Amino acid sequence: MSPANILTLALSKGRIFEETLPLLEAAGVEVKDDPESSRKLILETSRPDLRIIIVRATDVPTYVQYGAADFGIAGRDVLYEHTASHPGGLYQPIDLNIARCRLCVAVREGFDYHAAVRQGSRLRVATKYIRAAREHFAEKGVHVDLIKLYGSMELAPLVGLADAIVDLVSTGNTLKANNLVAVEDVADISSRMIVNRAALKTRGLLLRPFLDAFSRASTEA
Ligand code: ATP
Ligand code: PRP
Repeated sequence: MSPANILTLALSKGRIFEETLPLLEAAGVEVKDDPESSRKLILETSRPDLRIIIVRATDVPTYVQYGAADFGIAGRDVLYEHTASHPGGLYQPIDLNIARCRLCVAVREGFDYHAAVRQGSRLRVATKYIRAAREHFAEKGVHVDLIKLYGSMELAPLVGLADAIVDLVSTGNTLKANNLVAVEDVADISSRMIVNRAALKTRGLLLRPFLDAFSRASTEA
């Protein structure tokens, strides 16, 4: 648990940290270190009652679930996979509208995905997002063998590991650079504020002003 009068916010470095900075600013918080240049994992802020911990994006829900962080920010993609094994563990009050992208099915240019689906072929699909992919293809009645990867999904169809991938797409530049095309949308993705359920009860007075400020700032953005 965090020290009694200090709130701990879990963030991942990179886009979530960068896109959270304006929301922190709107809440009157300045972060004292830059996680890109500092090796520190616990960052102080201008507020003595708020510290930030830097963890992997996929680990944010785990820190919050177990109360090592009171609250955090995580993508809907990550939350969907996390809640598969921890249903109901996290309070997810606010869609912050940051880190927006789409979860898509993509294939090599020239691979006729829709024909393969029509013919009832069994497809090999590589992804980090096993739950989202399983549910997407089950809903469509498409038979798939899922292959779990932890990154660089775009490589899989190029070297024969998979027929398709389920991955995040924003500008489309990564797909284009690897001669892949998106053929289906799985979900719209943005990041949410997540809160530890016990912290909400025991530290509600400390937490509430931050939740309100983030909520206001994200709807104004
Ligand atoms: P990990 O380090 O745990 O493997 P990661 O490398 O996916 O995670 P980031 O790339 O920082 O971590 O992504 C964090 C979140 O940002 C993702 O969970 C997703 O919600 C969102 N995201 C990922 N890629 C994009 C993108 N290209 N554009 C916008 N948002 C994105
Ligand atoms: C994400 C995602 C895609 C890419 C899509 O990767 O996994 O590869 O963004 O974005 P685009 O459509 O704008 O090209 P990221 O940049 O986070 O790299 P990483 O997950 O390998 O760290």
